[in-house]
Order: sequence, then structure tokens, then C-alpha cells
Amino acid sequence: MVSKMKYYISILLVLGGIYELGAALDAHYYDKTCPQAETIIFKAVRDALARDPKVPARLLRMFFHDCFIRGCDASVLVDSTPSNKAEKDGPPNLSLAAFYVIDAAKTKLEKSCPKTVSCADILAVAARDVVVLSGGPTWRVAAGRKDGKISRANETLNLPSPSSNTSQLIQGFAQRGLSAKDLVALSGGHTLGFSHCSSFEGRLRNFSAAHDTDPTLHPQLAAELKRKCPKPNGDRNAGQFLDSTSSIFDNDYYRRVAGGKGVFISDQSLLGDYRTRWIVEAFARDQGLFFKEFTDSMIRLGNVGVDESGQVRENCRLVN
Ligand code: HEM
Ligand SMILES: *[C@@H]1O[C@H](CO)[C@@H](O)[C@H](O)[C@H]1NC(C)=O
Ligand SMILES: *[C@@H]1O[C@H](CO)[C@@H](O)[C@H](O)[C@H]1NC(C)=O
Ligand SMILES: *[C@@H]1O[C@H](CO)[C@@H](O)[C@H](O)[C@H]1NC(C)=O
Ligand SMILES: *[C@@H]1O[C@H](CO)[C@@H](O)[C@H](O)[C@H]1NC(C)=O
Repeated sequence: MVSKMKYYISILLVLGGIYELGAALDAHYYDKTCPQAETIIFKAVRDALARDPKVPARLLRMFFHDCFIRGCDASVLVDSTPSNKAEKDGPPNLSLAAFYVIDAAKTKLEKSCPKTVSCADILAVAARDVVVLSGGPTWRVAAGRKDGKISRANETLNLPSPSSNTSQLIQGFAQRGLSAKDLVALSGGHTLGFSHCSSFEGRLRNFSAAHDTDPTLHPQLAAELKRKCPKPNGDRNAGQFLDSTSSIFDNDYYRRVAGGKGVFISDQSLLGDYRTRWIVEAFARDQGLFFKEFTDSMIRLGNVGVDESGQVRENCRLVN
């Protein structure tokens, strides 16, 4: 039994190794060609945050959307053209913003080390920096991603929906080589930021034949959300912060989900499914554990579909 166990564990380690080799990312990728790359990116992010507290949430979410569609290839950064409607103009783009921060970093990088640092790597580093600047953990971002040449609005339909249940979420993550643990740890990104009413309104009224309000939603939060979103398709700017400390990266999100106060069906369903409940509860109890697993899962997210045949865009909005 024990030796069989060891056998499985070593197979897993070998497969894990191959997976990482396949991505061919390297923590020292720019050491010779652009040693100042990370400093330039950090300063651009820090300067933007000094003027706009929404920057961390926006860049973290942007990285997730990038990696989930065509892998981490900066396809999310491409602008639409007359002949192509790009990802950023697809349906769930409402709160994608702060593209200017990536542009600012790219402009400085093109001056210091022209045609060297990919937009996909800039976004991966910026996503780490916003976590650090919000009080979260840090990690080394391995680099060497290339920028893709394709960005299509209709592919954003493949992003997980806020009304998905855990089975659907697990499936969507598995399609990208990510586990149920990655799902729970990365959903902790909702420790930052804000949602518009449209993303959770379905829980508040006419929820199902049996329940007018989603029964998994804490009554106190339900009342608060109904106050903020008084009628369907109302104020387009109205909404709710995703946790009580929406500019601090902490484990409050899990404590809220554990107490029935997740904002989306997708958040709350993590407590309702036996495969994820124990992980939510563990992160709610232990912030250090959440930080460690979030770091691990962000590295895994940053390896999704890495494109080695792409290019280094000169302008993140335009394919060369
Ligand atoms: C598990 C599946 C996920 C679903 C269904 C989901 C869904 C959403 C939705 C609907 C919003 C609000 C959009 C709006 O109304 O403006 C949102 C916001 C956000 N999401 Fe997620 N998300 C998921 C996973 C993630 C992951 C993996 C991350 C990053 C690690 C992330 C980071 C964020 C952040 C930071 C915001 C706030 C954005 C802002 O304030 O501008 N989400 N998410
Ligand atoms: C989002 O997409 C719609 C069309 O689907 C577009 O009109 C709008 O400008 C886009 N918003 C952003 C912020 O890109
Ligand atoms: C998106 O549109 C392209 C054509 O522009 C089509 O080839 C592709 O199959 C569509 N993808 C999805 C997911 O609908
Ligand atoms: C999740 O949602 C799908 C699609 O609506 C449904 O078929 C499935 O039964 C749901 N699973 C659970 C566990 O609720
Ligand atoms: C609930 O749905 C019914 C039938 O679709 C509709 O007549 C009613 O106005 C809805 N109520 C609310 C509060 O949206």
C-alpha cells in the first residue's frame, strides 16, 4: 500500500515537472536582456495606485481573464479593429479597466529595452505587484511568455459565470489544468474589488419557484444588496464590494463565504460543495495557509497555455 502510494506520488511529481517544463518559464528570463524590467513595472503600478485605489482589483482580474482565454498571452490587452471585435469588448468586460497602467509600463520598457519584454509578462508581474501592494504575499514571477496574435470577443463566453455552481467552476478550471484547490485559492482574488448589480441581481428577486431570494445568501447581506440594487437593470454604476476590506488583500473573503456572505452564486457555492467546503473553511481559519496556496495557484495560473510561438508586441494594444 505504502509503496503504491509512493509510486503515485512520484508519477505526480514527474507529471508536474513536465507541465512546468512545457511552459518553459524562467525566473531569470530577463536577467541579461532587461534586468530593470520588474522595477519599471512595479513603479508604473505603484504610481497608478497612488492616484486610483481601484488599480489593484482591476489588474488582478485582468490577469485572470487573460490566462483563461487562450492562455496568458495578453490577448485581453488587444484593442478591437474594424475587422475584429477583441476580447476586451466581449460581454463580461464591464469592469475590465486600468489598461493604461500596462501601457505606461510598456512605454518605459520599450525605451529601456526595446522589443524585449512581452505584454503577457508585464501583466503577470503587475498582477503579483498589486497583491503585494495590497498587503498580500509575494512570489517570483517566472517569465518568457510571448504575446498572442488573436483576440476574439466571442471567446469571453468561456469565462466562468458568477451564476455557475461549483461543478461548473471545477470543470472550467480543469479545462485549464487547474484543480479544485486552485479554484478556491484563486477565488480569493475577490478579497479585492467591486461588483456591479448585474452580476448578482438574480439572487435577490424571483430566484426560483420555491425561493424569492437565494436561500444560501445571508438575510442581512440580501437586505443590503436589495437596498443597493433596488430594481433590475437599474443604476449601471451601482453595486457591492466583494469583501469588507476591499482594498486589503486578506482572508476576509473566506470568512464571509463561510458565513453565507459571498456576493456571487459562484462564491457561495464553494461552501455548498463537499469538494471545496473544507478548503474555504481552512482558508477562513488560517490566512497564512491562504497566502501560501494563493501564491502556488497564481504561479499555476500564470503557466496556463503559455504561448512560445507568439511575439513581443511593441504596443500591447496592437498585434505587430
Ligand atoms: C471562479 C470564477 C470567477 C468568477 C465567476 C468571477 C466573476 C467575477 C465577477 C462577475 C466580477 C464582477 C464584475 C463586475 O460586475 O464588475 C468579478 C470581479 C473581480 N474578480 Fe472575479 N471571478 C472569478 C474568479 C476570479 C479570479 C480567479 C480572480 C483573480 C485571481 C478574480 C478577481 C476579481 C477581482 C479582483 C474583481 C474585482 C474587479 C474590480 O473591482 O474592478 N476573479 N469577478
Ligand atoms: C464592452 O463591450 C461592449 C460591447 O460588447 C462595448 O460597447 C464596450 O465599449 C466595452 N467596454 C469596455 C470597457 O471595453
Ligand atoms: C468566435 O468567432 C469566430 C469567427 O469570428 C469563430 O470561428 C469561432 O468559432 C467563435 N468561437 C466561439 C467560442 O464562439
Ligand atoms: C450545476 O449546474 C448545472 C447546470 O445548470 C446543473 O446541471 C447541475 O445539476 C448543477 N450541479 C449541482 C451540484 O448543483
Ligand atoms: C417575478 O417574476 C414574475 C413572472 O415572471 C413577474 O411578473 C414579477 O414582476 C417578478 N417579480 C419581481 C420582483 O421581479
